[in-house]
Amino acid sequence: MPFQQGSARTRQRTVLLVGIVVLLAALVLAVVLASVLTHGERGEVAPKMLKWKDRGTTKNLQEVILGRCYSYVMARYPELGDKDCLKIWESLKHAFIYKDPCNITSEDYQPLMELASHPIPCNKSLFWSKTNDLAHRYTKSNQNFLTLEDTLLGYMADRVSWCGDPSAPGINYESCPKRSECESNPSSVFWKMASKMFAEAACGVVQVMLNGSIEAGAFRSSSIFGSIEIFNLNPDKVSAVHIWVMHDIGGPQSESCSGHSIKRLTSILEERNFKITCEDNYRPVQLLQCVYNPDHTDCRLCTNTMANP
Ligand SMILES: *[C@@H]1O[C@H](CO)[C@@H](O)[C@H](O)[C@H]1NC(C)=O
Ligand SMILES: *[C@@H]1O[C@H](CO)[C@@H](O)[C@H](O)[C@H]1NC(C)=O
Ligand SMILES: *[C@@H]1O[C@H](CO)[C@@H](O)[C@H](O)[C@H]1NC(C)=O
Repeated sequence: MPFQQGSARTRQRTVLLVGIVVLLAALVLAVVLASVLTHGERGEVAPKMLKWKDRGTTKNLQEVILGRCYSYVMARYPELGDKDCLKIWESLKHAFIYKDPCNITSEDYQPLMELASHPIPCNKSLFWSKTNDLAHRYTKSNQNFLTLEDTLLGYMADRVSWCGDPSAPGINYESCPKRSECESNPSSVFWKMASKMFAEAACGVVQVMLNGSIEAGAFRSSSIFGSIEIFNLNPDKVSAVHIWVMHDIGGPQSESCSGHSIKRLTSILEERNFKITCEDNYRPVQLLQCVYNPDHTDCRLCTNTMANP
């Protein structure tokens, strides 16, 4: 009797053990199968993405845009008040996700432009062309001026790239179209609209920082400034345009205020009834350049004639 009982218990235990082993084996099989299937799916989707020449969408785009938006609205300019960063991100995403990246229109961005726009104080707008670094070093050190990249829209999008693709997941992280591949790509359309809005918002005295060390000329009609911004300044709001032509310290002085391209710019602006002034190497900006070239003659506090009477 006790022997029989023992044998029954052993049989029960064996059955239980076999059951557990079978269950575990089934589980492992399911996990392996699932991973193979999703890998297969990914393998199928990736080659369907269109291939372009420019870098793809910035990794973690959502976190980058949201982080910059909150940083701008909460920390830098709390006076802007009720900007909804989540809504702003959603409207940026909806402008391009799952869309053909060569067929983006201004309508796609209209909701984003409306959500993110804010007033710009008079006399503060600073336009720039080919002086990216210097212009932004200047607005960082002098809170009296704002470039497009110092507005919420420009701040969020600065040096970030994005584009969509008709196939899942609707965002192309591998490549995006260059302007030479198609004009109506997500970045170009965005910057055109943002620049137009920035110019339209300007009032009072506006300034423009140009690069006098560019051989092709400081003012180029094909630039964003030359093709979009100058034509969207409102003569009823903007009284004067101050041009600053900056030369690299110790670099070539290809053009100054009396140069050909500056004359072209001046005549375009005068035709639109703006008052113009032009200054070579505007001193407050040149002093910033001198931080990196303190010993250069252009950076001396006194002129040579005063130093050597
Ligand atoms: C471009 O997009 C518009 C609307 O978003 C659509 O009507 C048009 O058919 C598209 N064109 C091409 C070539 O995909
Ligand atoms: C803008 O500058 C002009 C000329 O310097 C000045 O008359 C005007 O008061 C300024 N406006 C503001 C809002 O600072
Ligand atoms: C002018 O343009 C050149 C070439 O792009 C650049 O290296 C230089 O830093 C620019 N100078 C200024 C003052 O921005």
